[in-house]
Amino acid sequence: MKRSLLITAFIVILVLAAVTLTISLTSSSEVMGTQADEEASDVPFWKTSIIYQAYPRSISDELPDGTGDLVGITSKVDYLRDLGVGVVWLSPIYESPMKDFGYDISNYTAIDPIFGDMDDFDELVARFHEHGLKVIMDFVPNHSSDQHEWFQKSVRREEPYTDYYVWADPKGTDDDGSPIPPNNWLSVFRGSAWQWNEERGQFFYHQFLASQPDLNFRTPAVREDMQKILTFWLDKGVDGFRVDAILHLFEVKDLTLNEPEVPGSEDPDDYASLNHIYTTDLPETFPVIRDWRVLLDQYPDKLLMLEVYSNNMETLMKYYGNETYPLGDFPFNFLLIDHLKNRSELTGESLRTTVGLWLDNLPKGKWPNWVLGNHDVGRVASRVGEDLVDALNMVILLLPGTPVTYYGEEIGMLDTFISWEDTQDPQGCHWGQDHYQEHSRDPARTPMQWDESKFAGFTTANSTWLPVNPNYKTLNVAAQILAQTSHLKIYRELAVLRREEVFMKSNVSFPVITKDIFTFMRQLESYEQYLVVVNLSQKPVEVNLLQNTTQELPQKANVVMRSITDTSENTKPGMEVPLDKLPLTAGEGMVLTLSSEV
Ligand code: GLC
Repeated sequence: MKRSLLITAFIVILVLAAVTLTISLTSSSEVMGTQADEEASDVPFWKTSIIYQAYPRSISDELPDGTGDLVGITSKVDYLRDLGVGVVWLSPIYESPMKDFGYDISNYTAIDPIFGDMDDFDELVARFHEHGLKVIMDFVPNHSSDQHEWFQKSVRREEPYTDYYVWADPKGTDDDGSPIPPNNWLSVFRGSAWQWNEERGQFFYHQFLASQPDLNFRTPAVREDMQKILTFWLDKGVDGFRVDAILHLFEVKDLTLNEPEVPGSEDPDDYASLNHIYTTDLPETFPVIRDWRVLLDQYPDKLLMLEVYSNNMETLMKYYGNETYPLGDFPFNFLLIDHLKNRSELTGESLRTTVGLWLDNLPKGKWPNWVLGNHDVGRVASRVGEDLVDALNMVILLLPGTPVTYYGEEIGMLDTFISWEDTQDPQGCHWGQDHYQEHSRDPARTPMQWDESKFAGFTTANSTWLPVNPNYKTLNVAAQILAQTSHLKIYRELAVLRREEVFMKSNVSFPVITKDIFTFMRQLESYEQYLVVVNLSQKPVEVNLLQNTTQELPQKANVVMRSITDTSENTKPGMEVPLDKLPLTAGEGMVLTLSSEV
């Protein structure tokens, strides 16, 4: 009896062990399976993912001092995973005097204490990777902080740092005996790009703030140091870089050359008053990017995205490189920001032209990307209207290419009014009290709105580095999770939808384009066909999509998703709608599947 009991117990244990083993094998093989699938299909992660820009000062303040930090960002890993983004790009978190909020780096391989320490960073990367999220660092090679030891040593002409920065003798002296800069070059933030350094007795060049001296990429040791910095972070396991201000990396050798004035410009301190032929987009830049590409390619699957602000398509496309000389995986596509500054510029036709500009100029084998906002421009909902939030997310998430979302745009955050007294951004400050509002970047950098509690759940400190938008009581993540329909819910659904093969693999066509209406279609043989329709006008319309179409469309379609502004019973998801009489609210976007019979 005892023996048979023992045998039974033994069998039970064996069965349990087998079950446990099967369960653990199944879940791990699922994880392995996903990775293996990705590897097998050879699609780099950044082609299938949404990129989310986290501005570290404003995500979440877990070490409460009013400014966000790394522990705060790590605490949001579940939120980010549930949102459906695959890549998180961190704006600079390096040691910095914060004159330009981290874009002035005094140590490229240290974390600024305001954000935490290296352990916090390692923890962030580990947790993000555990959750299947990639981490991209901001890389700022054009300039360092004037507090960087390289600059301090360069001022003292200590080798090998003497030529680490761009130094020049004065052109002469003015009537007061003050040194005159070598040329007329201007800083992006206004005024001369040259700053006199008494100790060295020379001017140094700064494309941005005087506290951000430009590094001299003609000095081989600078290039080597930058490679070492990239290697440091790659060895730590980061998944790639967003390269800051790449257009400015070189300037011509002859520092006596003046840049030509733009005819009709009235403000000689305004950066826009010169044509920057000697200080931007120099051919010497490309071999440097190429070296970075080669370095990154020594590691598996790394992303290199480049910040290139230009409205010249030829200039922009050069930064992709080509099939035999690949450079960045992509230069950011800022056309949706630049061409669509406000609602009056936004029509079906202008959107079609803007989207086409990128797609039609894309070099062979290269991949598009779509950006609606970032830390340097106003929030998209404020620029073009809150009613368009869902529609524009439909556009960037469902067009072919990689969408880039600036934090808060998934809930439709708006610009925040910042008084002159509260203004932090140096660009705003440089324009003075009368004009700061046209140039300050603070309104789009305010704390993320998590819930309706004090400071929107961003911090438990007594103040925040920039004021929280007063609309946080109603416009916040928690409220949008609870609401039956919300921007956040639409965003999450879109993130799931875009993973369908038809969105990953098919080409795009634009069957109906009018002043009011923008449409695009994604179709792939033997897959469901999707049609996205956007009403860009500020009034409700009933459109006949069967008229003026370049493609044969069926009479009817089924609603998959619609903007939250539409509450009609007739257009609820799942409903069949007539394409010759499709009702749309102002700014509405609708995702439809087409019935197969035409
Ligand atoms: C880039 C950054 C911007 C910064 C500038 C100088 O344009 O996006 O925020 O001020 O470079 O680093």
